[in-house]
Amino acid sequence: MDFTFQHYLNAKRTVDDRALNGSVWLTMAELIKNRASTQTLRVLEVGAGTGTMLHRLVEWGALKGGMYLGIDSDAESIQAALQNLPAWADGQGLTCIPVPDGFELSGRGIQLRAIFQAREVSEAAANPVEPGYDLLVANAFLDLVNPASLLPHWGKMMQPGGLGYFTINFDGVTVFEPQLDPALDEKIIELYHRSMDDRQAGGQATGGSRTGRRLYHQLRDAGWKVLAAGASDWVVHPVNGSYRADEAYFLNHLLHFFEETLTGHAELEPAAFQGWLTARRRQINDASLFLVVHQLDYLACWSPDDSHLPG
Ligand SMILES: C[S@@+](CC[C@H](N)C(=O)[O-])C[C@H]1O[C@@H](n2cnc3c(N)ncnc32)[C@H](O)[C@@H]1O
Repeated sequence: MDFTFQHYLNAKRTVDDRALNGSVWLTMAELIKNRASTQTLRVLEVGAGTGTMLHRLVEWGALKGGMYLGIDSDAESIQAALQNLPAWADGQGLTCIPVPDGFELSGRGIQLRAIFQAREVSEAAANPVEPGYDLLVANAFLDLVNPASLLPHWGKMMQPGGLGYFTINFDGVTVFEPQLDPALDEKIIELYHRSMDDRQAGGQATGGSRTGRRLYHQLRDAGWKVLAAGASDWVVHPVNGSYRADEAYFLNHLLHFFEETLTGHAELEPAAFQGWLTARRRQINDASLFLVVHQLDYLACWSPDDSHLPG
């Protein structure tokens, strides 16, 4: 099987669709509706990947107008986001006219400029092109960066009272069912979580395997007021003997992450690990694998005066 990160992100779309916490989403969508006139709404998405959150924001009616900027450090993903947009817009019955770095989308009461740029998030936070965002989005992202250092900078890019929609934050629980060898299952999952905790980005610790629960405190400490929070667990299971949409690929790609990360690990017997991967792949082929990954979503409002920030 050929694995590409962009294919993984596209396959993740339906898994995230089910997982995103409905009540946190509705609170965000309602507040956004009341916040700014549709024409002036400004949205920034960090770690935007192939653009699936933009599609969702439009399809689910949260975003009808204004300006959306998606940034990601991976130029290939940004290229995929730009390539995906015209066909997606066509499927939505929207007109899609090229503009520099993006497209002007219109039709069905929508008038939205969508821009994607390959940019590093810390650079964007240090040199915001045009601050004053109404909504900042980060989906499946904060475990890869240092949230405590970025959150205060992001606040400065917001309109007063601007909203942060921080979603799909991994929170330390991965479940593969049915179990194979319980001790080996536990060891592999523990080592994978540990690799997340050891991960560094730009010389700093990243959010790691408990990003979800830590974020609650980090948001408040950085000057963000938590307005809504809820679980957004990935739950992937077969329906009538097969996985939905492209979710078999999604599961295979998760195992690929495990293989890439843990092959050669000193605490794993190589043959046992390869046997585990083979058995798990067979479970995907047989449509018998059941996956649960615990995650948390937050909606927060930039209000530094209410925070615990010193001075
Ligand atoms: C797990 S993916 C999620 C992508 C997208 N939000 C989604 O849910 O489909 C995380 C994304 O963050 C990007 N990323 C990681 N570190 C970054 C950084 N320091 N600056 C900008 N983007 C970054 C990666 O390239 C990747 O596309």
